[in-house]
Formats: sequence, structure tokens, C-alpha cells
Amino acid sequence: MFETIIELTYMVGALLIVLGLRKLGSPDTARRGNIEAGIGMGLAILAALIGPMQGASNNYGWILGGMIVGGAIGWVAAKKVKMTAMPQMVSIFNGFGGATAVVLGMVELEHFYSGTAMDGGQLIVTLLALIIGGVSFTGSMLAYLKLDGKVKDKNVTFNGHSILNIILLLVMIAASVYLYMQGRPGGITLAVIVMVISLIYGFSFVAPIGGADMPVVISLLNSFTGLSAAAAGLIYGNLVMIVGGIFVGAAGTILTVLMCNAMNRSLLNVIIGGFGTSAAAGAKSGTDGQIVKEIGLNDLAIQLYYSDSVIFVPGYGLAVAQAQKALKELDDLLTANGVDVKYAIHPVAGRMPGHMNVLLAEADVPYPKLLDLEEANAAFPATDIVVIVGANDVVNPAAKDDPSSPIYGMPILDVLEAKNVVVIKRSMSPGYAGIQNPLFFHPKNKMLFGDAKAVITKVASEVKDL
Ligand code: TAP
Repeated sequence: MFETIIELTYMVGALLIVLGLRKLGSPDTARRGNIEAGIGMGLAILAALIGPMQGASNNYGWILGGMIVGGAIGWVAAKKVKMTAMPQMVSIFNGFGGATAVVLGMVELEHFYSGTAMDGGQLIVTLLALIIGGVSFTGSMLAYLKLDGKVKDKNVTFNGHSILNIILLLVMIAASVYLYMQGRPGGITLAVIVMVISLIYGFSFVAPIGGADMPVVISLLNSFTGLSAAAAGLIYGNLVMIVGGIFVGAAGTILTVLMCNAMNRSLLNVIIGGFGTSAAAGAKSGTDGQIVKEIGLNDLAIQLYYSDSVIFVPGYGLAVAQAQKALKELDDLLTANGVDVKYAIHPVAGRMPGHMNVLLAEADVPYPKLLDLEEANAAFPATDIVVIVGANDVVNPAAKDDPSSPIYGMPILDVLEAKNVVVIKRSMSPGYAGIQNPLFFHPKNKMLFGDAKAVITKVASEVKDL
């Protein structure tokens, strides 16, 4: 009876997690989905806690202590984190997931070497949890440090780094196979060596990857952590760990592939690194004496006010400036004047999947106003004015016209199809890809330099005065 209750609690927990994840697919249901998945996770934890109650010993003091300390740190971190720092937080949390798998792997191997029975299959999954978790732990920590600007790419990499990585990978595999072949006589020292190599490899694997490519790598490491959790679930025959781990593994893999496709880059290209570090980075002025036209706040306000249709293109700069609420206010003023206002969302605008959707949802922009890439490109020819707010690469026509461009082939928002184009950003600096944007010099385009929030707020107040 007791075991049936435990199994049932696990099953309801797993079901709630699945249903919750499904609801994350739409902004209308995402909040509820998150809560449901959280309750499901809570039930799974509860089942894991009361499961061993009948056993001879338990460690409730340690477990509850860990939960209180971890929960408090997680709560404070989640409350304090800025939206732009979300990738860093995901990275740290993911890294700790990997670290947990390492600890589980080491504990089980220690039991094995002290005499607890373990068949060949169990030994393999334990090793997998150990090495994948190890790679994920140090890889995620370095990803966090790079994203947060605490470690510079050039300080952790050198020429021929990829050769070192191949050697480390081969050594890690060879040591794991040797450990497996040795069986119990191998001893715990060998397990420690495998753990250390996997930790070094995780660090070295992420080292050459450009700081700006981190979202893709984090997603990849996330899938690693999922796999290590699934492996740990196999060790304990725990269904929820297996299901959860496979979900995370699959979601991370799908997201990695989607991001690479949306940037038209292969995963290998991301892993080898060096993207976005070209000499063009930091360029402040036009190229070949090309002319950049500017527009004033008042002129933009008038143009927007008397347009029939306006499309805003938000990008990373909107997130940096936290201009979403100001943009919504401008949208409300224009909509009240009968202007049709929409938002064009590129799948990799910003720095994390769904970044723009989340920001705009935060500002209560109605979801039907958001156009995806295809819808937006179909709508531009009939649009009076497109206003690009802190976006750059996702509207760079070089992706279509210049085969030598690093972003050639990446699908972009064809803003030049609209009747007028205005770009709001602080300078002529390039975006994430580190390349200049010919759009800025196009005769149809006008620039409005300044911080996105300050500019949009001022334009909104000009519109109010009209
Ligand atoms: P970016 O190309 O990175 O350009 C952002 C622009 O925002 C910059 O040129 C910057 O110019 C401007 N900016 C920064 N702070 C600003 C502020 N306070 N006010 C106004 N403007 C500001 O952004 P994007 O167009 O959104 O493209 C995203 C890029 O990230 C793509 O290359 C994509 O491949 C890459 N990426 C995205 C993801 C995901 S999943 N979203 C994952 C990996 C990589 P100034 O400095 O002149 O202001």
C-alpha cells in the first residue's frame, strides 16, 4: 500500500510536469503551466522524501537543510535576476544539475568499490552520469563567467585549442572504458581520475566558444545535464528522474538545433568558436564614406501618428534598455489614434529563445500583435513605417545579399520592403555578429541615436502633444 502511494505520487507529479510543459507553449497559459510543473516537481520531491521512510536509515536532517539553503538561494537569485541576465542564471542552475549528477555518480561508485553489487549496465549509466554531469558542470560555470563578462574569451583559449579538446575527449573516453573493464579491482582512484578529466574537458570544451554564442552552448549543456539526470534515474530505477531527464535532454537538443537553424550555422561552427570577433566589431562610423541619414524625435512622432500601419522590430537593445513598457505606451497612443501597430519577432532576436516574447508579454502587449518572421515579411510591403528598436543582425540585409558575410543565409526580417524604416540605437556599433549593417546606410533608412527607453519615452510624449 505504502509503495503504491509513492508510485502514484510520482505518476501524478510526472503528469503535472508534462501538462505544465505543454502549457509553456503559449504566453496565455505559460504562467499556469509553470506553476503546475512546479507542483508536479514538488510532488516528486515529496515522494522521493517519504519513499525511504520505511527504510532502516534516512538523512532527513541533511536533506531538509540542503533544501532550505538551496531553496533560499534559488528564491533570492530568481527574484533579483534581470531579464538580460537570465542566460547567466540558467547557466548556473544547469551547472549545479550537472554537479549533482557527478556527486551521485561518485557516491554510487564508492558504494560499488566498497562491495555493493552493480551489474555492467548499472556501471555504464553511473559512469555516464559522472562524465556528462562533470562536463556540464564546469562547462556551464565557464559559460556563466563568460556571459557575465568575468572571464574574457582570449584569456582561456589559445591557438590549436580544438586539438587539446580532441585529445581530452579521447583520454576521457579511454579512461572510462578502462575503468569499466577493470571493474571492482580498479578502485576509487580511477573514478576520481575520470571525474577530474571530465571536469577539465567541460571547461576546455566551452573555452574557445565566443561569449556571444553562449546561449546555444548553454542549451547544449542543458541537454547534457538532462541526459546525466536520466542516467542517474536509471541507476536508482526512478521513473520521474528518467522522464524529467529525457525531457530536459530532448528540449535542450531541439532548442540547440532550432537556434543553429535560425542563425544558419552548424553546431560544429558554434563549437569551434570565434564568431562575432571580427575586426568590424566596435566600428563607429560609416564605411566607404556612405551617408547615414538621421531623423528627429518630433519628425518620427509625426510620421508615426499619421501612419496607417506601424511595425516595431524589437532586438537585444530593447532588452538592455528595458524599453518594453515605454514601447507599449507608445503603441497605446498610436492605437488610440487608429494606427495599426504590430511587432515583428525574429526567432533569435535578443540573447535567448523567446526573449522578445517574454519582454513584450511583461509589458502586456497582446499576443495577436506579434508577427513571426514569415508573417512579418509578408506584412512589410503594406506597412507605412518600420521602427527597429535596438535590433541589428536580425535586420541585416547582408544575410541575403553578401555571400562573404558571416551571417549570409540567416533568414532576416526584410524591413526594407516597408515604405519607411527608422533604426533606434545608441551608435553605429555592430550587434552580436560583430559586422556592420548596410541597412543603416540605405537611402530608405533613417537613424535615431539614443538609448531605446529614453528615445521611445520622448517620442511617446511628442505623440501626446500632437
Ligand atoms: P544585435 O544584433 O546583438 O544588436 C543589438 C543592438 O542593440 C546593438 O547593435 C546595439 O547598438 C543596440 N543596443 C544595445 N543597447 C542599447 C540600448 N540601451 N538602446 C538602444 N540600442 C541598444 O541584436 P538582435 O538584432 O536582437 O540580434 C540578436 C543576435 O544574437 C543575432 O545575431 C543572433 O544570432 C544572436 N543570438 C541570439 C540568440 C537567441 S536564442 N536570441 C542566441 C544566440 C545568438 P548600440 O550599441 O549602437 O546601441
